[in-house]
Amino acid sequence: MLRTVVCVSGGGTNLQAILDAVKSGQVTNTEIIAVISNNAGAYALTRAEENGIPGMLLSPKDYPDRESYHAAFMKKMRELSPDLIVLAGFLVRIPKEMTTEFEGKIINIHPSLIPSFCGVGYYGLKVHEAVLARGVKITGATVHFVDAGMDEGPIIAQKAVRVEEDDTPEILQRRVMEEAEWILLPQAIDDIANNRLTVQNGYVRKG
Ligand code: GAR
Repeated sequence: MLRTVVCVSGGGTNLQAILDAVKSGQVTNTEIIAVISNNAGAYALTRAEENGIPGMLLSPKDYPDRESYHAAFMKKMRELSPDLIVLAGFLVRIPKEMTTEFEGKIINIHPSLIPSFCGVGYYGLKVHEAVLARGVKITGATVHFVDAGMDEGPIIAQKAVRVEEDDTPEILQRRVMEEAEWILLPQAIDDIANNRLTVQNGYVRKG
């Protein structure tokens, strides 16, 4: 069993997609052992509770500085000692230390086709606003392993999604979630849980 921790900040629709996929058997060999949120108001915590999964709040607001927040985050991760950490709409930077200590064990979902519309300042709705402002015709989502960089690390999977002329950021966000994110993320977890992925020189191979 792949003991998996999911980190969230908001609505948690990606978390829900993972939980549904585990329940339906689309994702196998996987146990969601905890959900960690940086945001007390995150609906994702309610989703965790409804599914009988321990939800934990670790907010930077409860610590005097980043250093002590990061120390608490690392302590919690070491206690949980997961096989996989999924950043499913986790909008806070994780401690650098975590990327070395859990190297190859952290994945992230990003709502664009990396390397477009990613990096500092590109998160959540802001990504879709930037996509519409630039006028690109195709966007999408990316699942990747997390390294010390921002939205960097070996790419596991990507899926393209069309941009329509009268899209608002909210409409586009929803289409990217439905057509790409909620499919890619559970699939990536299932691939990892069933040892289908290998990473060599920064490239992910499946099979
Ligand atoms: C998702 O669109 C996810 O790709 C994005 O935040 C949203 C969270 O939605 N993540 C990032 O922008 C990370 N850079 P959710 O809480 O409903 O899953």
